[in-house]
Amino acid sequence: MTDVQTAKPEVDETPAPSGSNGGSSGATSSTTPSSRAQALAAEQAEYLFPWVRPYYEQPLVMSDAEGVWVRDVEGDEYLDLFAGILTTSVGHCNPAVLDAVRTQMARIGHTSTLYVTEGQIEAAKSLAEITPGELKTTCFTNSGTEAVESAIATARLHTGRHEIVALRLSYSGRSSLTSHMTAQKGWRLPFGGSAGIVHARSPYTYRSPTGDDSTDLFIDDLVEVIETTTSGKPAAFFAETIQGVAGYVVPPADYFQRAAEVVRSFGGLVIIDEVQAGFGRTGKHWFGIEHWGVEPDIMVMAKGIANGFPVGATVTRPEIAEAWQGPSISTYGGNPISMAAARATLDVMKREDVPTRADARGQQLRAGLDSLRDRYSWIGEVRGMGLMQGVELVSDRARKTPDPDRAAALLGAAKEERLLIGRGGSNGHVIRIGPSLLITAEEMEEGLKRFYAACERADG
Ligand SMILES: Cc1ncc(COP(=O)(O)O)c(C=O)c1O
Repeated sequence: MTDVQTAKPEVDETPAPSGSNGGSSGATSSTTPSSRAQALAAEQAEYLFPWVRPYYEQPLVMSDAEGVWVRDVEGDEYLDLFAGILTTSVGHCNPAVLDAVRTQMARIGHTSTLYVTEGQIEAAKSLAEITPGELKTTCFTNSGTEAVESAIATARLHTGRHEIVALRLSYSGRSSLTSHMTAQKGWRLPFGGSAGIVHARSPYTYRSPTGDDSTDLFIDDLVEVIETTTSGKPAAFFAETIQGVAGYVVPPADYFQRAAEVVRSFGGLVIIDEVQAGFGRTGKHWFGIEHWGVEPDIMVMAKGIANGFPVGATVTRPEIAEAWQGPSISTYGGNPISMAAARATLDVMKREDVPTRADARGQQLRAGLDSLRDRYSWIGEVRGMGLMQGVELVSDRARKTPDPDRAAALLGAAKEERLLIGRGGSNGHVIRIGPSLLITAEEMEEGLKRFYAACERADG
């Protein structure tokens, strides 16, 4: 038994952890922040909505970057193992992406969907080369949130049904609908948007009440949720392949096959969110779902698709897309500049065979993280796939008590070591790592060295 039920739900992906910068040697920016960084943080608080909340007690103000390295306004250099939330997939300021964007901007920067945009067609064709099976029809948007919205609208239009079965602990975005598909209290807007959305148990084996990694519990719950909280006619099942914000929750091997069978037996579509896990990040395959041999009906992508340029994509089979005839427009969706970035990023990813690279570097990263489990009793589990690896921190290994304070301390300690990592988990107690897919073996080695040093600081 775990005490997951009693854990205080305190979600954390981006909020500044308190007490995160304790202890330092040789550090400058977090102990003696520059007046410029302080002034900018103060101005951010004055002029931006309060939800725009950066990491760290002394927020980091980045000024320039290259590959996996970023510099702050102070001139300090950091090794970035979080890539702006798994987004700079081919490294900061990748020259091929920069060239493509500069060239496009000098030709034409904006069209809107009222005109045929060549770059949009090229990007969709490039995407269709790597998407599984029959998935080849794409709708481009400006963010993951909007890509999820489009997927849900498509499923509802195609099936003529309304209800969506999502998973607990999921994160789907910040709009009214997607914040309610999200099933972590802190990320949900406190009003509207939840009609027709139900949630089945997350396949979170580490905190499974049965104490094992059997899939039955999760599948039984999925069936029960459909049978008891829907009309029995769901439009779709919606799931991330690896639940990212939840702390890289990887389902058991047969989960998706069985879940897809269940949902399809009720006539629903299978929508898979690859916003975090897509584009080779999980190693060996282009998309996470390919590890489990399921061909989704609709896929959602964003983040790594354009190396930081704002692009979301919803991809499906032609006969499903057919259901959405419009009228509908997107002023910026599929715009020439974002599409140039997406095409160039996809070209680099294909040329560099990022699934193979992520597999190799992921094994290196995983071996390094696994070696820490014997050293620190506060490491409950190391998990993930490829270059998406997480470390769940607990204050009591036997009881699996989430330890958000240690996670905050470790995040701050990593900054002291000039290392950028991320945080997640339903209690903000999971460390998340997800660097550029082009990270080299030497850079990974350096990252691990800094992570070990950060763990030493955060110990005790
Ligand atoms: C799995 C998943 N889906 C959707 C989103 C929403 O993407 P965006 O922040 O681009 O709107 C996110 C963002 O973190 C995500 O992790």
